Amino acid sequence: MKIISAKDYYYMSRMAANIISAQIIMKPHCVLGLATGSTPIGTYKQLIHWHKKGDLDFSGVTSINLDEYKGLSPDNDQSYRYFMNHNFFYHININLKNTYLPNGLEKDSEKACKDYNHIIQTSGGVDLQLLGLGLNGHIGFNEPGEAFEKQTHCVNLTPSTIDANSRFFENPDDVPKQAYTVGIKTIMQAKKILVIVNGANKADIVKAAFFGPITPSVPASVLQLHNDVTLVGDETALAKL
Ligand code: GLP
Repeated sequence: MKIISAKDYYYMSRMAANIISAQIIMKPHCVLGLATGSTPIGTYKQLIHWHKKGDLDFSGVTSINLDEYKGLSPDNDQSYRYFMNHNFFYHININLKNTYLPNGLEKDSEKACKDYNHIIQTSGGVDLQLLGLGLNGHIGFNEPGEAFEKQTHCVNLTPSTIDANSRFFENPDDVPKQAYTVGIKTIMQAKKILVIVNGANKADIVKAAFFGPITPSVPASVLQLHNDVTLVGDETALAKL
């Protein structure tokens, strides 16, 4: 694993954007695995900036996001589709038809997951997977559990994740309790993985995930078994390493 320490959030974002843009330049028709959350916003901003300057062309890129809340429509401003459109896709020249997220409006979980697995399988495989890290070690919405889940599945979000998300919703009853997420196997099959972390509140989980035992109770710990992981963090998130 490569660990890159950046002085602050801005430089963490710039470094992550550099790695993503190198991937696109090397392989213009690449498949990017993308993530939501507050951590990647700066990375997307930097990529948008380079695109607007004419340095980065997304026309050949396909994107496959990690997860989506079950029950939220694309025009709900808390859905991950809305997040991706507004924070990234609407500002670059990616073909929206080549951007994928699980279908949050599909009530039949089995169908939603099967459809998404099919999309992933036929995409040719993820070249570079961008990941944030949940406070409890989740990646995508693979929550701590008894076993590593392999493929796309429907998860019951943990109280700590529901609580972390509640800041975005006016009414606590509106906070989604379930989500569709790609599985650990899907994430591990990406050719390269780029994990970004910032903030002192992530320092303990960064240490547990990358230097603690490999266990489904810290889902991100499985990344220790991947042979091409880059961890980019600001100094506060990496402070305990
Ligand atoms: C959500 C997402 C994860 C993300 C996590 C961390 O739970 N499903 O993919 O990594 O939040 O979010 P943040 O970057 O806001 O700390």
